[in-house]
Amino acid sequence: METRPKFVIGNWKMLPEHSHALSLATDVANYCAGHDYPLLRTVICPTFTQLASVTQIMSSKKLPLQKLSLGAQDCYPAPGGAFTGDISAPMLAEIGVHFVILGHSERRQKHHETNAFIREKVVAACESNLVPVVCIGETLTQRDNGQTAEILGEQIAQSLPENFEGILAYEPVWAIGTGVTPTMEDLQENISIIREILHKHQPQTALRTPLLYGGSVKPDQSAEIFAIKGVDGVLVGGASLKVQDFIKIIESAPKG
Ligand code: PGA
Repeated sequence: METRPKFVIGNWKMLPEHSHALSLATDVANYCAGHDYPLLRTVICPTFTQLASVTQIMSSKKLPLQKLSLGAQDCYPAPGGAFTGDISAPMLAEIGVHFVILGHSERRQKHHETNAFIREKVVAACESNLVPVVCIGETLTQRDNGQTAEILGEQIAQSLPENFEGILAYEPVWAIGTGVTPTMEDLQENISIIREILHKHQPQTALRTPLLYGGSVKPDQSAEIFAIKGVDGVLVGGASLKVQDFIKIIESAPKG
């Protein structure tokens, strides 16, 4: 049985105020500098325009990567060229980014990203030594129609390249930003389903792939989520923008 590291990843989404990003990064970095949790990795994912400033704040604290790492929220598959408005994986790696969220449902839905396109991004991220955090999850209609396992299976089969090395985040679309979370029984069941599918499609790497939950994670239930067998961490949106909430979530994680 492999021991997988635990993760708390903050997805800041399109946080508009640069000053808010800087103060959040400073507060989280100060907290991480003063605490030693060997099994836990904290990652913050600001928007593109904030990455360079946040990386400077982090390096000024001389924090080891195990304590706090930087993630981006997307990347384009090509390394460079005529792709107006896009940011590539090598560009992110060059400025000190180590993780990248890919296939978030907001990109799947609002930017019509397909599983095949996400797979290309995952390959590009890995080529640049970024750790992809690939999001999967069913919509409310799919859930109500009993299609959850089928959708998760499709997303895993089609968005992940062979021998996937990265992190998988289960984010039911209906739980994102809604304040609604699955019951712990449902979550346990879906986490087991995902692990089973992963073993089928990625026999070489499934055992060491961390599996995260995301969708309205708040400090008052994060300990319960961490206690679910097979959950290796959380991907946090809204609550990652309030430093006290984010810290409480970090403190609720198993720390080794
Ligand atoms: P939320 O977002 O915590 O605000 O629901 C999670 C996510 O979208 O990753």
